[in-house]
Amino acid sequence: MCGIIGYIGHREALPILMQGLKKLEYRGYDSAGVAILNKENNIEIQKCKGRIKYLEDMVREKDLKGTIGLGHTRWATHGKPNDINAHPHFSGDHETVVVHNGIIENYLSIKENLILNGYQFISDTDTEVLPHLIQSLYQGNITEAVRNSLKIVTGSYALGVISKKEPDKIVASRSGSPLVIGIGDQEMFIASDIPALLNYTRKMIFLEENEIATIEKNCIHVVNLEGEEIKKKVVYIDWDAQMAEKSGYKHFMLKEIIQQPLVIRDNLVKYIDSGRVNLSDIHLPQNIVNSLEKIHIVACGTAYYASLVGKYAIESLSGIPVEVDYASEFRYRTQLLSKNSLGIVISQSGETADTIAAMRSCKNQVYSELAIVNVKGSTISREADQVMYINAGPEIGVASTKAFMGQLISLYLFAIFLGKAKKQLSGQNEEKILNEMMRIPHHMETIFSQDDKIKSIANQFSNYQHFLYLGRDINFPIALEGALKLKEISYIHAEAYPAGEMKHGPIALLDVNFPVVAIVPRDHVYHKMINNIKEVTTRDAPVIAVASESDEQIKEIVDKVIYIPDVQTILSPLLSVVPLQLLAYHIADILGKDVDKPRNLAKSVTVE
Ligand code: G6P
Repeated sequence: MCGIIGYIGHREALPILMQGLKKLEYRGYDSAGVAILNKENNIEIQKCKGRIKYLEDMVREKDLKGTIGLGHTRWATHGKPNDINAHPHFSGDHETVVVHNGIIENYLSIKENLILNGYQFISDTDTEVLPHLIQSLYQGNITEAVRNSLKIVTGSYALGVISKKEPDKIVASRSGSPLVIGIGDQEMFIASDIPALLNYTRKMIFLEENEIATIEKNCIHVVNLEGEEIKKKVVYIDWDAQMAEKSGYKHFMLKEIIQQPLVIRDNLVKYIDSGRVNLSDIHLPQNIVNSLEKIHIVACGTAYYASLVGKYAIESLSGIPVEVDYASEFRYRTQLLSKNSLGIVISQSGETADTIAAMRSCKNQVYSELAIVNVKGSTISREADQVMYINAGPEIGVASTKAFMGQLISLYLFAIFLGKAKKQLSGQNEEKILNEMMRIPHHMETIFSQDDKIKSIANQFSNYQHFLYLGRDINFPIALEGALKLKEISYIHAEAYPAGEMKHGPIALLDVNFPVVAIVPRDHVYHKMINNIKEVTTRDAPVIAVASESDEQIKEIVDKVIYIPDVQTILSPLLSVVPLQLLAYHIADILGKDVDKPRNLAKSVTVE
């Protein structure tokens, strides 16, 4: 949802801004722009509709020199993607410039007032009220002008401001949208996320809601909305720049799929001690576990599907009922919570607006809120009562893959931890599951070795317009995730159903032009799945099955089979999702789609 980058220091700002924008492009890519404060103390803006490569061509011909600047890559909310609506936006006197991520919800009334006072607007964006408002409130101190403006606006924002009135600073603030400050040697940076800054620094400061930072090249001063000074902690980030590069892979998505065995290993190393799950960071005293009546999980997108797998795992290993909600629904519905329940929020970015709102809405109503998060320092990781990191490293591809794997493995470990605490799971069974988990990375390699076959299936199926994904029990959420992957990156319509429910509607769609992807491991619902597959083939629909290696019959009844190693049912999602990720990836790539940056989507949805 828009990416922001800013630089102040001793180097030329433009190359740093352009490199940062490329790293942030996954957040939005319908227009981009930069503003540089030059040596003559003028602010020059270059911006245009379209990808960053167009902006690159544009700035190549200009002489944009200066050591202070801001950049922005846009995901349009208010105002069509075009050159004028692209950020940065100027104040009327061209003295102040703003980049913004988020939505100013009361922009219409502010705009009307400003127009009455003679301010002229040139764009259709909500953002443009900010530079005008800051100009109208300026009385010799740019930080104060920003602070007083932010007292008036409602909505969400991360913003960067530079002004030729005070040419040695960037003013930055956030509320509801992410912003991190990077600390260098005689230079400072702002960015919407950590990977954009990893080439320059690993020392970061995270702003809390409504904090306003005045950033000079060698110092940072932070105040809250009331103007009170805030002391900030510097956080050292243990990701390195290489982790955020493609490293020879054609796409980040492919690299991230291939990294999944590593994500599993890293989590097992971190959370298993002497053959036992050790979640020492999670504080759930025995008396609380004994009285736990329910667990509520909220999440969006892929994290929501991981939550559904978590429900099956937690319920079957610990016997504690789990309710899973879309964060966007949960935040507005009647919430029947109690202190005998536990809240879990799951988010890769830790910045999804609905997930943050859902988490805040049940603050203090449950015993504790546990966040299962990837990005350290993110809003969710800071505001939750407790945090379990999924240790997936930076995920750049918009379609989530390795973060899903990290979420699954974290949920399994948490389910085992609860099962033990509830005395539902014996030490022997814990050992059995953990031993099998440790073999999952190796099993994944055997799926990767079928990649040529998966690619050839993708080739044969890339021209179909619709797909139905079927699964049962713990593999039903994997059908949902498989269908999501395909529609996100290939724009082919795909929907998922619990296989037993197919007869209540979707079967009417099936014919020779409507392929079905069936997840059919050898488990307690295997024969039910086989019956459903027969119902499909009777209607002439082609079937691609994801089946167990030991299943010798399946090839006789379906068109294509991708085999996964036999594992106990509860762990099968860790494997069954991988061929579906690869299938979606290859179909999208064959169709020539922009796999890492699918149209209309954004990696981190920081608006409602
Ligand atoms: C967007 C992304 C998805 C992600 C979802 C939730 O839709 O494109 O990949 O699953 O947001 O994001 P979160 O960061 O909260 O996991």
